[in-house]
Amino acid sequence: MGFTPIFQFSIIPVFRSLVMLIDSHAHLEMPEFRKDLSEVLQRAKDSGIGYIFTVGTERKDWRRALEIAGSHPSVYAILGVHPHNAREIDEKTYPALKELCKHEKVKAYGEIGLDFFRNHSPRDVQLKRFREQIALAKELRLPIVVHDREAHQETLEILKSEKAGENGGIIHCFSGDEEMAKACIDMGFYISIPGSITYKNAERFREIVKSLPLETLLVETDAPFLTPVPFRGKRNEPSYVRYTAEKVAEIKKVSFEKVAEVTTENALRVYRLKV
Ligand code: NI
Repeated sequence: MGFTPIFQFSIIPVFRSLVMLIDSHAHLEMPEFRKDLSEVLQRAKDSGIGYIFTVGTERKDWRRALEIAGSHPSVYAILGVHPHNAREIDEKTYPALKELCKHEKVKAYGEIGLDFFRNHSPRDVQLKRFREQIALAKELRLPIVVHDREAHQETLEILKSEKAGENGGIIHCFSGDEEMAKACIDMGFYISIPGSITYKNAERFREIVKSLPLETLLVETDAPFLTPVPFRGKRNEPSYVRYTAEKVAEIKKVSFEKVAEVTTENALRVYRLKV
């Protein structure tokens, strides 16, 4: 940012509190936040994080995600079944989600997709449930949040054939190549950048981000996971999304304030938030 380190502790925090950032993807309902959620939310507020989108990824987390969103004006919820949990979907799952997604604080459906890295659910089940959940999200008229790990080609094929971009959406924690990013953007998706952009070995990812217009990007923590430098190794939390935004500013050679302004506009647009 061109400031000497001494200023980073004195001037910048005050300065930054003037610009709003949005953490487009976190998991506040996870057990890692059970003890100190109010402190975590206070630190987010103090760091200028205007809104946090918390993602309930399996049945046991949906109500907690909604409870947190329902009791904090700055928190919204996203509900769905993660590809890891695809095998747990039964005849009660979709009716329950349909009901819960009527809540006014639910702003998207997800995270859904494919994870061929961990394979916690069989691949054929993941593929089937991904298609079904895209259809459900469309029925609910919600944008979708996509999880893709080591399944780029299959993800892209399904997004295309199911016309998944109709209500807009986000490729969360993007890990594909430039070609994939552009194909997703063409379908109406935003590309969300996690804290791993700050990692030493993320050079290829930084090149991709450099090539994409700021108007197509969001920033996220995926807290409690993927903690950015300088806190890598500790629990992640929404206030740290500013380190990700800072890195995006550095890569794209624009100001931090510009990244905050544009990624905030993008998030408000995709989640259809009127503020
Ligand atoms: Ni996530």
